[in-house]
Amino acid sequence: MHRKVTKAIFPVAGMGTRFLPATKSVPKEIMTLVDRPLVQYAIDEARAAGIKEFIFVTSRGKGALEDYFDNAPQLEQTLREKGKTELLDILKSTNMDSGEIAYMRQHKPLGLGHAVWCARRLIGNEPFAVILPDDVIAAETPCLQQMVEAFNENPGNIVAAMEVPDDKASSYGILDIKDDMGDLVSTKGMVEKPAPGTAPSNLAVIGRYILTPTVLEMLNKKQVGAGGEIQLTDAIDGARSTGEEVYGFRFKGHRYDCGSKAGFLQATVAFALARDDLRDDLRDFLYAVVEADKAAR
Ligand code: UTP
Repeated sequence: MHRKVTKAIFPVAGMGTRFLPATKSVPKEIMTLVDRPLVQYAIDEARAAGIKEFIFVTSRGKGALEDYFDNAPQLEQTLREKGKTELLDILKSTNMDSGEIAYMRQHKPLGLGHAVWCARRLIGNEPFAVILPDDVIAAETPCLQQMVEAFNENPGNIVAAMEVPDDKASSYGILDIKDDMGDLVSTKGMVEKPAPGTAPSNLAVIGRYILTPTVLEMLNKKQVGAGGEIQLTDAIDGARSTGEEVYGFRFKGHRYDCGSKAGFLQATVAFALARDDLRDDLRDFLYAVVEADKAAR
């Protein structure tokens, strides 16, 4: 029987340059979609998938992230005294149990692969998940839960994948497909940001992974790849070359690239429209803005 996936790594040590100047002092992962930080969506998704240990790979300037996961006894007390039970419940739902969450420093931004490698001692010899909080996925069944279910049927490395148009393929890691089984796709390779017209398929890798400890062994080699960074994709390819399967998984849901301004804005609108307390006013406002914009052109 293979081991269950109970640990997840959240690599959040990147500099978030696309959101400067905000990210000068605010970690990108704390920025909010409506009223919840990106990282809260990632934690909720991981919990739904059965994750029990949450490992954050952080860097200098990410203190606000650690504070966010602390309990806030004073705030709780004030809300209790004022009888604001609804807010109190919201606040408590974000509390983490002692020992559930760990922080590891990545001292230099040497790449996503390197960030994952920094957490190796906390993972040990078992399969683990990697979640990039930049990728927010709206789904009926949370994406990582879908992937854990797929992993339980087909143990191996599993990367979340989605179809992208030809002209967008060069912005992603693209899967080279061996066998297409529908939701699950076995692969013979992965190409990081292929030159236009050379992508082996339209299936792009996004920020959810279930990986075997072999990937950590491969990362031990500290092989420098594209962009002068230690790439997670290279280590996953390395695991394939030892005979392990690497599957792409077509998840059900909509992924928002909240690492980009356009994706972040789209997610903000979509998540606000999904809320009963905001939908009507926002919809009226959006119609009016679009009409005014059309008239001005
Ligand atoms: P990105 O490529 O989006 O980089 O990293 P970034 O620094 O977050 O943002 P930009 O491009 O400068 O705006 C993808 C994920 O990998 C993590 C990031 O924190 C993000 O979750 N990462 C990247 C690390 O943890 N360490 C690294 O050295 C690089």
